[in-house]
Amino acid sequence: MPIPVLTIDGPSGAGKGTVSRLIAKKLGWHYLDSGSIYRSLAIAVQKASVDLAAVDKIVKVAQGLALEFECGDELIVRLDGEDITNQLGLEQTGGMASQIAALPAVRQVLLKKQQDFKQLPGLVADGRDMGTVVFPDAENKVFLTASAEKRAQRRYKQLIEKEIDANLVQIINEIEARDRRDMERATAPLAMASDALYIDSSDMTIDAVVEEVLNLIR
Ligand code: DC
Repeated sequence: MPIPVLTIDGPSGAGKGTVSRLIAKKLGWHYLDSGSIYRSLAIAVQKASVDLAAVDKIVKVAQGLALEFECGDELIVRLDGEDITNQLGLEQTGGMASQIAALPAVRQVLLKKQQDFKQLPGLVADGRDMGTVVFPDAENKVFLTASAEKRAQRRYKQLIEKEIDANLVQIINEIEARDRRDMERATAPLAMASDALYIDSSDMTIDAVVEEVLNLIR
């Protein structure tokens, strides 16, 4: 029996995570947050005190990456048994993940780890290259985006709510730098699959986006 896969790709802060989790819950499907795998690797590399220029060593860390995911209302991630959920969301972790993600050898190692998430009754996979590289045969693909300003405002609001100091202009600059790096890299860049549905969430509520994606599946 074929296992249904819905891929949701797009830049950071477009709402992919929230939308993917809600849809996975509604459908009772598994959820792959591929960004959290790159982010966890960034943390593992930092813990092992490996320099970002030492590609061979980063690949070794990727090969031995021992992650556990607990998918409740919030995604909890453990690295070697230690809960690293709080460190995962830091902008610094995202920036480092984006640099490591540009290494083709690293992407190759992580490919199978991601494909293993495809299990019955179905999978919602969120990332940058889910519909183009990891699950090119998925029957339902979405490219979810929003303007850099809107994405920065959402991120700013999240940080302020968590009482973390934040600067809107700095966040816009960081988001634009990460977009550029993710789109311009040679291997599996952020790009829309030719058969994906394009959704710009700049002026949409989360519920409206979820509804549009569910309509696609129906
Ligand atoms: O989605 P995110 O912000 O958690 O992802 C963090 C970084 O990981 C992102 O800037 C690029 C990289 N990434 C990737 O290259 N491919 C994916 N499928 C997911 C994330």
